[in-house]
Amino acid sequence: MSTVLTVGVGADLLQQLREQHDGDVVTLAVDAPTSGGLMSLLGGGSEPLAVVLGPDVPLDRAFNLAGRVDVATTTSVIIVVADADPELWMAAMRAGVRDVLSPDASAADVSAVLERAAGLARARQEAAAAGQAEERPDHRVIVVASPKGGVGKTTVSTNLAVGLARSGEGSTVIVDLDVQFGDVASALAMAPEYTLPDTVHGAASNDPLVLKTFLGRHPSGLYVVAGSDSPAAGDAVTAEQVARLIDTLSREFRYVVIDTAPGLADHTLVALERATDLVLVSSMDVPGVRGMRKELNVLEELSLVPAGRHLVLNMADPAGALSMDDVTTTIGSPLDVVLPRSTAVPLSTNTGIPLLESEARDVVTRGLQTLLGRLLPEQAGAAQPSGSGLSGLLGRLKAGGR
Ligand SMILES: Nc1ncnc2c1ncn2[C@@H]1O[C@H](COP(=O)(O)OP(=O)(O)OP(=O)(O)O)[C@@H](O)[C@H]1O
Ligand SMILES: [Mg+2]
Repeated sequence: MSTVLTVGVGADLLQQLREQHDGDVVTLAVDAPTSGGLMSLLGGGSEPLAVVLGPDVPLDRAFNLAGRVDVATTTSVIIVVADADPELWMAAMRAGVRDVLSPDASAADVSAVLERAAGLARARQEAAAAGQAEERPDHRVIVVASPKGGVGKTTVSTNLAVGLARSGEGSTVIVDLDVQFGDVASALAMAPEYTLPDTVHGAASNDPLVLKTFLGRHPSGLYVVAGSDSPAAGDAVTAEQVARLIDTLSREFRYVVIDTAPGLADHTLVALERATDLVLVSSMDVPGVRGMRKELNVLEELSLVPAGRHLVLNMADPAGALSMDDVTTTIGSPLDVVLPRSTAVPLSTNTGIPLLESEARDVVTRGLQTLLGRLLPEQAGAAQPSGSGLSGLLGRLKAGGR
């Protein structure tokens, strides 16, 4: 039999709850949440169906508590008693509150809220069981990284994501983990309502259904977790929160593409711990290529190089000071994809139309398609061995064929 816990609920509403609920209704003192009483209660025995926080619990305390209960339990539903207005609804939902009950709710309202709570608890229980049971071997978490800035990570990740999104409705999400200065949204010409910090707090952090309401939608069907509006807000997002976000997204989406900041920040490392694929990007210059070798060494030492490893040389220029032999010798490994320097790329960056979406059939588009082919299942098995397919491209480059 399920229990409803109430804190600071008025006598009339309490009576309604007792009449409508087919189980125990336990009343806690208003200071129980502060003294830790509620949390310790939640820690032992079976989880209550719902925790109803009445008007005697100040809203900020109720919201704070909602987040903690949401994390501490699998199925308990938090209900706040307040006069609902849209603004309060939004703040409540972000905090982890699942329903708002008016202080003078009728018997029918109370019954409807309890029914919704029971339905939600059932759905969450099933989702939790399915999540535990389900292995998702075909799901990929693709991290796009580089030691240096400005080498083309965002260009590569946004194009990959748009390309992968074509494999099916709701198949792909891109996460901007360049937490301070992310520009995925700009590269996709989007002005999203919500950004990374919104997706890691409250209900969004552990309920995939709520999380999806905080994701942006690109016309290609791609879902987007945009970078934060301000560097400070981005910095406040912890590595643990990022880890949880990636775990949730990777259960929901077949492809999770992650754009990162240059270097090996904590956020990037937790993403790499979950990665099935690493796309390491370098520009064609000495610091970039040396940086790629060093980053590979460090990641190998940390056992953070996933099974899918894709080395991308970007802004390749046959007229540059480095030859392709110099590059591969320094890296100590053949390259998988070479993207030439092309004026089509800054044009695409500035207009927010990814190359894989535009009509222009640029030589960079072909390179991006090769990379895409390495990640799509029907072609991944037949992925070209490292380095192959490049000679033709380089030959064309050398012949000036852009
Ligand atoms: N192949 C290319 N040819 C010409 N310009 C390019 C190419 N690739 C990227 N660029 C340009 O280089 C700039 C940096 O690219 P991008 O933003 O993708 O790099 P990044 O690695 O994500 O940078 P940051 O580290 O600052 O996030 C952009 O203006 C982009 O248009
Ligand atoms: Mg970038």
